[in-house]
Amino acid sequence: MAFEKNILCIGAGYVGGPTMAMIAYKCPQYKVTVVDINPERIIQWNSSELPVYEPGLDEIVRVARGKNLFFSTQIDKGIKESDIIFVSVNTPTKTFGTGAGMAADLQYWEKTARHIREAATSNKIIVEKSTLPVKTALAMERILKAGKNGACFEVLSNPEFLAEGTAVRDLEDPDRVLIGSNETASGLKAREELVKIYANWVPEERIITSNIWSSELSKLVANAFLAQRISSINSITPLCEKTDASISEVARAVGLDSRVGDKFLKAGIGFGGSCFKKDILNLVYLCRCYHLDTVADYWEGVVKINEYQKERFVLNMLNAMFNTLAGKRVCLFGFAFKADTGDTRESPAIFIATRLLEEKAELVITDPKALDNARKNLDGLDGKILYFEDPYEASVNCDAIAVMTEWGIYKDLDYPKIYRSMTNPAFIFDGRNILDHRRLFEIGFNVFSIGKPPMTHF
Ligand code: UDX
Ligand code: ADP
Repeated sequence: MAFEKNILCIGAGYVGGPTMAMIAYKCPQYKVTVVDINPERIIQWNSSELPVYEPGLDEIVRVARGKNLFFSTQIDKGIKESDIIFVSVNTPTKTFGTGAGMAADLQYWEKTARHIREAATSNKIIVEKSTLPVKTALAMERILKAGKNGACFEVLSNPEFLAEGTAVRDLEDPDRVLIGSNETASGLKAREELVKIYANWVPEERIITSNIWSSELSKLVANAFLAQRISSINSITPLCEKTDASISEVARAVGLDSRVGDKFLKAGIGFGGSCFKKDILNLVYLCRCYHLDTVADYWEGVVKINEYQKERFVLNMLNAMFNTLAGKRVCLFGFAFKADTGDTRESPAIFIATRLLEEKAELVITDPKALDNARKNLDGLDGKILYFEDPYEASVNCDAIAVMTEWGIYKDLDYPKIYRSMTNPAFIFDGRNILDHRRLFEIGFNVFSIGKPPMTHF
């Protein structure tokens, strides 16, 4: 069957894979091909064990794969055959040279632009999906314009707002789809092409358009705002612990003001994930480049509070457990940066595990989805680390449990049984405030949560 449009996505990661699966699922009239330089990723996308764990994703991939959704390593062929190319390669924080630790590392992305330029033999619309510093589209256009094949390219910015664990829902029913373009005749025409794709399932009033710089900047600012709410509530937790206030009660009272709203006010061990820190640092770097240091300092504060919160958690453990963790066995409940994902990028658990090992604690790690990633993250660190999928097995002979991830399964475990299998005195540090603290205390645990008074038996 002839397809109406050929869509290509370069980069089969957390963003590219699910986004393209949704487009293919919703638009059987388009052929969607996802390519990657990593052949293993492609093998996984073509297997029954997808490389990304997302509730609902298996189902939509199963429906579309082989019909109008294809995963391949043939990048050149994909470029040649496509009308629209989404670029969703990784843009991690730079680890070297100017802007190290702050700016985005654009090497993968630039390689992709050059690759498109070399392989394309006809006009294309290029869509930036990866989160990029503002004005990247301009750089991309410059690289593309230098091509010798006579092809013309129109670059659009279409930032992805999906959150992991809810990617399928976010893609199917997004709050908004943002499309930025040049405000020239060809830019507006390309914008319309992309609007038409999303309009297959997203109500038109939720598809918003803007100039290309606003679109790029909106993505950074949206993530910075979300992260700022978490740092704001976390910054109040030490005060709650000192004053016997409860952070859940404070958050509830504050969040019920409709001007504030109740989302992203859950205190914990700090935010993780591949986007928040990276995007804020990007924003900070951008401000510094324009000598807007007061603005840069303001947003950098969001990251600083996040680091403080993770360190504070370790210091609280140390303090509660009689100022030494050496030789004590600590069980980490969860390692993923949040529930319903196996992703551990920037997970607070990595920092906390590393610090606990420095304090010479022994670690036992349990997580329903993230143990493979946890092993990779902690590989090479000094100290004893054990891994168990079963939380009951993991907690045997432990001195303490520390909740790192808000997995639902941890709420309903048989805690009397766990208590009996642990060393006495037994401690629970609930880094996500998800457990029933009073009940745990009654079972015999010494309970420490975030932003609430501790409950101890001594
Ligand atoms: C985020 C944005 O939500 C999404 O729009 C963007 O496209 C990518 O970045 P994600 O990183 O998948 O998505 O996770 P998110 O649900 O935002 O959570 C990020 C971190 O904040 C997690 O570690 C989570 O545990 C933490 N968090 C979230 C809190 O500590 N408290 C909250 O109230 C909410
Ligand atoms: P994100 O969370 O932004 O989707 P990921 O790291 O999950 O990031 O995915 C990015 C993907 O892009 C990886 O699978 C990586 O192999 C792929 N990639 C990076 N550079 C290129 C390139 N030049 N061509 C094709 N794919 C690439």
